[in-house]
Amino acid sequence: METIFREISGTIPIKEAIQHIGSAVAIRGWIHRKRGSAKRIFIIMRDVTGIIQCVADKSALSESRWAELDRAYIESSAVVLGVIKKDERSQTGYELTVSDFRLISNNEQQFPITEYQSPEFLLDVRHLWLRSLRMINIMKARSLIFKYARDFLDSKGFFEITPPLITQAGGETGANLFELDYFGQKAYLTESSQLYAEAMIFALEKVYSFAPSYRAEKSRTIKHLAEYWHLEPEIAYFNNEQNMALQEDLVSHIANKFSSESDILDFFNIDRNELLSIKPPFKRVSYEEALGILNARGAKKEWGDDFGVEDERLLTEDEKKPMFIYNWPKEIKAFYMPVNPDDPRTVLCSDLQAPAGNGEIIGGSERIWDANELIARMNEKGLNISKYSWYIDLRRYGSVPHSGFGMGIERIIKWLLHLDHIRDAIPFPRMINRVTP
Ligand code: 4AD
Ligand code: MG
Repeated sequence: METIFREISGTIPIKEAIQHIGSAVAIRGWIHRKRGSAKRIFIIMRDVTGIIQCVADKSALSESRWAELDRAYIESSAVVLGVIKKDERSQTGYELTVSDFRLISNNEQQFPITEYQSPEFLLDVRHLWLRSLRMINIMKARSLIFKYARDFLDSKGFFEITPPLITQAGGETGANLFELDYFGQKAYLTESSQLYAEAMIFALEKVYSFAPSYRAEKSRTIKHLAEYWHLEPEIAYFNNEQNMALQEDLVSHIANKFSSESDILDFFNIDRNELLSIKPPFKRVSYEEALGILNARGAKKEWGDDFGVEDERLLTEDEKKPMFIYNWPKEIKAFYMPVNPDDPRTVLCSDLQAPAGNGEIIGGSERIWDANELIARMNEKGLNISKYSWYIDLRRYGSVPHSGFGMGIERIIKWLLHLDHIRDAIPFPRMINRVTP
């Protein structure tokens, strides 16, 4: 153990090693690929910074080190020493001529993931599949997107808050709640942190919560997770117009910042200019106008209908930027949205649709800020008022107009990286048929 630490301590990241052409370097990581013969073995080593081809000649290694390399499985961990050279023929652009090789830990057996595997199998071994270059790039992008979102809101003077995830008051329709036994009482995993974010604006004015939301989605779709990460800003003294402007600024900031991550962009074949073109203002279409567009494109929609996957695709397939659909019918939206004074059939809200059929990425609205109006609407919706007494209280003590929205971070990742399924946007996806690993 001691000696292996000594060897590891002398290693440098692969990305740094390739700057030292002609010099001897030591790297450490995992064996990403391996092939060879009785006299020469090629391995590709991987660390978080990249991959590099290494070539080992039997004659250059001691007998015991050659034996170690020879029995090393793919995905075992190792320290490799050698001289770096540029090599256009190698897949990685550089090559390391191995002078010494040391296993940190060999696998107990062959790595279970070989070249062609079904998506279901890759989900079964997700804990190992996370080492694939595809997942590594997605997880880097995910981490960056979290950071861009936080940076943007922090720079606007927001405070990050931490809501409870176990609640008794559903924040949305309540239809998809996971129920749990809370010391003998009924409680739920939260479906949105909005109600708690609302409570906190009376102290901090501009807040956001960045936490998981849980939806017991019984359908299998390419854009629904049972556990997803939900960014929910809530702002005092804010109307729906300002709310939409903040959303387009946030989404543009994320897309524009992401455009400079050239390694990830290259990996997924993402056009940098497309990301840079995502700038305010986004198109704004009222629900009523959207109905007209849909029907002109062959859908048969009536006033009051919600939109499905196919409608979302029809509306956005030719769009390059996200697009707002605002002021939806009261009946199909949540209990906290105020009536639109210009058309009382509708409420002051918006959904932000990603381009090209990628679906809804944000839902937001003004919030009813009058206690009686809120109670009346909750009664209309058949909600149990007693569960929401604290939420109604917020309207009884120094209430102010306010707005907020919720962005599904995996929906953003799926859209920006052109992933074909939302499950790859999160390391350990939870879906109707999957809660492990
Ligand atoms: O439209 P939703 O249900 O709105 C709310 O929960 C509000 N309380 C948010 C707020 O105003 N604070 O969800 C918001 C967003 C959706 O637009 C979508 O991006 C994402 O959350 N989302 C999901 N993402 C992945 N899997 C699911 N099952 C999702 N359900 C919603
Ligand atoms: Mg929604």
